[in-house]
Amino acid sequence: MRRRVIAGNWKMYKTLAETRAFFSAFTPLVANSRHCDIIIAPPFTAISTAAEAAKGTNIAISGQNVSWSKEGAFTGEVSAPMLTEAGCRYVIIGHSERRQLFRETDDNVAKKTLVALDSGLTPIVCLGEMQEDRDAGLAEEVLLRQFTGGPGALTPDEFSRILIAYEPVWAIGTGRTATPEIAATAHRFLRRCAGEQFSVHHASALRILYGGSVKPDNIQGLMAQEELDGALVGGASLDPKSFAAIVNFK
Ligand code: 13P
Repeated sequence: MRRRVIAGNWKMYKTLAETRAFFSAFTPLVANSRHCDIIIAPPFTAISTAAEAAKGTNIAISGQNVSWSKEGAFTGEVSAPMLTEAGCRYVIIGHSERRQLFRETDDNVAKKTLVALDSGLTPIVCLGEMQEDRDAGLAEEVLLRQFTGGPGALTPDEFSRILIAYEPVWAIGTGRTATPEIAATAHRFLRRCAGEQFSVHHASALRILYGGSVKPDNIQGLMAQEELDGALVGGASLDPKSFAAIVNFK
């Protein structure tokens, strides 16, 4: 049985004061939640504060992005060793907002994944098709391309140390969740890609999270699908009660 993961991606929200207030309210609500891994990805500036607040709890901290270089003259970038030092155990890589708004490519995703692994971080590699891809019947083709250019380019050992998040772009921030069946079909496809590129063992051990308008009122339906190993939550992770309701979906 794959252990489930519920991760919150705060995107560009929350000051330090708001981060502290969130943790004070959220930590007690999930203190007894042992059925899944709980992750929160604050903005860079709030990582240390979040890591401090999460010390001794069952909550792990993640970055939302990472440079593909370990150090250097790269103004505005943050490296994997810096994330580790600040208290991160995970890092989100290749989020669709990074791909669409900041022109990240599959090649960037592959490089960032390697540097993250090298620093001991667990990458959460995101992929997902756009509405027009799905309308044109190209969803699987896009997923295969993103898989092959990113996670598929790793060695089998490296691949066994990452998580994948399936985030259909049309479902992000739109309130249009993928139906549990659509999500499960995409997850099955990605698992098949993993099986073909690596091995059946790699495919069955791979944890794939679903992301896109996950809310307290749809989490149960999504988690009823065995194919879904958890969720990557945007908007609904900003409120402690709503994120706790998602974590405690059982
Ligand atoms: P929403 O849950 O706000 O749709 O965002 C999903 C997401 O992009 C998580 O990474």
